[in-house]
Amino acid sequence: MRSPFSRPPPPPPLVPEPTFVTLTTESKLIATIYFTCAAVALYFAYSCSGVNGGASNGASKAGPTPVTTFAAVAAALLLLVGPPDSVDTILRLVTLSEMPLGAIPAVLVLGAALTLAVSFLSIAFATPTPPTPPTPPSSTTPALPSSEATFQLLRRRRSVFPKDYTGAPVPRPVIERALEAANWAPTHGKTEPWRFVVFAGAALDALHTIKREATQRQLASKPVELAAALTKMDAKRAELEKVSAIVAIVRKRVPNAKGLLMPEWEETCAVACAVQNLHLQLTADGYVGYWSSGGVDGWADDPEVRRLVGADGAVDGARDKVLGWFHVGVTDKNPESFQARRGKLTEKVTWL
Ligand SMILES: Cc1cc2nc3c(=O)[nH]c(=O)nc-3n(C[C@H](O)[C@H](O)[C@H](O)COP(=O)(O)O)c2cc1C
Repeated sequence: MRSPFSRPPPPPPLVPEPTFVTLTTESKLIATIYFTCAAVALYFAYSCSGVNGGASNGASKAGPTPVTTFAAVAAALLLLVGPPDSVDTILRLVTLSEMPLGAIPAVLVLGAALTLAVSFLSIAFATPTPPTPPTPPSSTTPALPSSEATFQLLRRRRSVFPKDYTGAPVPRPVIERALEAANWAPTHGKTEPWRFVVFAGAALDALHTIKREATQRQLASKPVELAAALTKMDAKRAELEKVSAIVAIVRKRVPNAKGLLMPEWEETCAVACAVQNLHLQLTADGYVGYWSSGGVDGWADDPEVRRLVGADGAVDGARDKVLGWFHVGVTDKNPESFQARRGKLTEKVTWL
């Protein structure tokens, strides 16, 4: 008999204490399959999402991150080889509630199917967004010039000849920057075949002498032609005094990473692109110049001249070549006054 002072027994709990499920091998296997499916689905969705460059059409789609994929893989592994407690915890998280042990496999299979379905549907119906612009080298990189500014630079670049130079010097940093711009020319095979030799100051005077002597060697057997060439050269000498620097333009034969030579015409084009870059940069900085191809197949092909400018190499019989001389100077004339005409674009372009 119970004493009237003794306490009554505690009431039964409203919510029954959770009983940990004891997993059968079968349910463990099903759960593992679930997380493996989830991992595969998430990885697939991620790799197709364009987040990591997966989208081949350049369109970026929303997708899960590698972290979720990684978590699913980790869960699958834990279920397979982990201690029973952690297995149980994961299953509780998955099912989100207490439920009869027998229902767990069905929920897991359903979950796996849903995960796969949602992933594939999200890939199939994702709205393409514009590709992410390339990250600039640093946050301090200036913005690109506007379309109009770029067009004006291209349109107003002019070949300006020494007769229109003032004789004022072009600062060395200006020429260095123009050469840096040249170095960003496109290059098939990444051979970067452009080489430049800058003649300024006393070296410029020496170049005139070198040119004269090379012409004498070249035309030694043709006295009439030689006399005419020297007369023309001497007449131009006064004009050339106004040139601040002359840059020898060299096409070097450079094997690519596989040891192969690119076609000669491609290397010549790459050098031409480099020269155009140089010219445009000079224009943007307020200086002028022009590309002279004078003597390219004459005095500039003389062995001593080629040696002087480092164009005396050859690879498998393919020779380096001097492609001309870029004259750099300062002008006080209005650049708009320099002759520039182009034929109709419609006669040069066909749209199909
Ligand atoms: C590969 C190449 C070689 C050139 N060689 C000479 C040359 O030897 N003498 C010359 O007066 N101009 C030469 N020029 C410059 C052209 O005369 C000039 O580009 C043309 O008149 C068009 O003028 P613009 O550059 O002002 O548009 C050359 C241009 C190029 C692209």
